[in-house]
Amino acid sequence: MFIYHSNIFITMPKNIAIIGMQWGDEGKGKVVDFLAENVDVIARFNGGNNAGHTIVAGGKKTILHHIPSGILHKNKLNIIGNGVVIDPKVILEEIDTLKKAGVEVSPKNLLISENAHVILPTHIEEDKKTGGKIGTTSRGIGPAYADKAARRGLRFCQFSDKKIFSEKFFRENFFKEYLEYAQKLAPFMADTPLIISNNLDKSKKILFEGAQGALLDIDHGTYPYVTSSNTTIGGVCTGLGIGPKKIQSSIGILKAYTTRVGEGPFPTELKDELGEIIRMKGHEFGSTTGRPRRVGWLDVLIARYSARINGLDSIAVTKLDVLSGLKKIKICVAYNHNGKKIDDFTTKLDVLENCEPVYEEMDGWDEDLAKMTKYEQLPSNARKYIKRIEELAKAPISIISIGPGREQTIVLRKEFLFY
Ligand code: GDP
Ligand code: IMO
Ligand code: MG
Repeated sequence: MFIYHSNIFITMPKNIAIIGMQWGDEGKGKVVDFLAENVDVIARFNGGNNAGHTIVAGGKKTILHHIPSGILHKNKLNIIGNGVVIDPKVILEEIDTLKKAGVEVSPKNLLISENAHVILPTHIEEDKKTGGKIGTTSRGIGPAYADKAARRGLRFCQFSDKKIFSEKFFRENFFKEYLEYAQKLAPFMADTPLIISNNLDKSKKILFEGAQGALLDIDHGTYPYVTSSNTTIGGVCTGLGIGPKKIQSSIGILKAYTTRVGEGPFPTELKDELGEIIRMKGHEFGSTTGRPRRVGWLDVLIARYSARINGLDSIAVTKLDVLSGLKKIKICVAYNHNGKKIDDFTTKLDVLENCEPVYEEMDGWDEDLAKMTKYEQLPSNARKYIKRIEELAKAPISIISIGPGREQTIVLRKEFLFY
């Protein structure tokens, strides 16, 4: 479809990758669910049940861990790609919970890649023993990806093959339990790269759903304080089995401030009462582990870095409503490190741990944004904040989220979305 915009014709994308721009929990689930209404396929490409993607629709809250955030919409195909690691026990519980809430989940609307790797109890045990230093979610994610890289992991197709699984694991105390899980999950297994390719060929609309955020990327994040997968745009290709030229568009999800769960550097962290106020107002507690999230001001070096390494087409700013009531709002526009000004984000731990953020201060607003439906209704200081983010991040803002509910979403530039 073409639309006329600023004197030029723009081709609207058939598919969009949704990527977290910070340290996760930016509101990817909310945005994917919002956009899913207009698509045919929603495909998760990385991570596992370290992710917690929250959707609030019709006043009902759903937290998803493995299952793509399109599942609440009828007649959509949800795909869990080969880049995902799967805990069979947890995904079965997830399916059960959804079914009990009246959501259809069957191989008609959910498929799992035969090449996705399986998280076993041994991975969880190891993560619990060794993950403390990083502050992992203790879900066995790192050890499962480590086994995959070391070529001794268990693919979903081997797991669901009774003969292969029995030969490999009959001595393990979890054998019987997991054999049962495998048989229950086997009907969901499919050659998902082929299915996605067929859908691309038919020009179907697709969302590629990322987990975590750019700064948790194993290559581009704040290593070693990262997760064990590629959370950035390349993960779409490797995690789903499609070529880079097939990705038509990407939207980065950016929280209007910053949060982080677990250990690692965080230059704009607020360790004072204000941090606590934002944490409470934004309900900043992990969707997966319930841990309090560390909170800080928006860091535009991070936003610009994420926009650059992902080649983002546009940004969705979330949780703008949480900042209502603050007299002043700060944006970090540079770092000061040993008397030197740094304008571009770096993943060097030494710099991140020992730098002073340089802030630009803006006036806040008091109005409750929750019920606003148009950009023009936003207080002028909120609009100034949005404009400033756009200028500093060097990417256009297409969506503003002003509450957890599906309907609390303002579309600013629909040319970046599907309509
Ligand atoms: P994800 O991991 O990126 O999907 O994000 P999470 O679901 O872990 O965390 C985001 C939290 O913020 C969830 O509780 C959402 O319901 C909530 N949320 C999302 N967007 C907004 C918003 O614009 N305003 C408010 N107040 N909450 C939001
Ligand atoms: P979503 O998709 C926020 C963090 C953990 C830890 C580090 C490594 O909901 O945004 P791991 O268990 O992956 O080995 O932990 O990564 N982490 C997340 N933080 N949101 C997530 O997912 C996360 N997934 C992992 O807290 O610091
Ligand atoms: Mg989350």
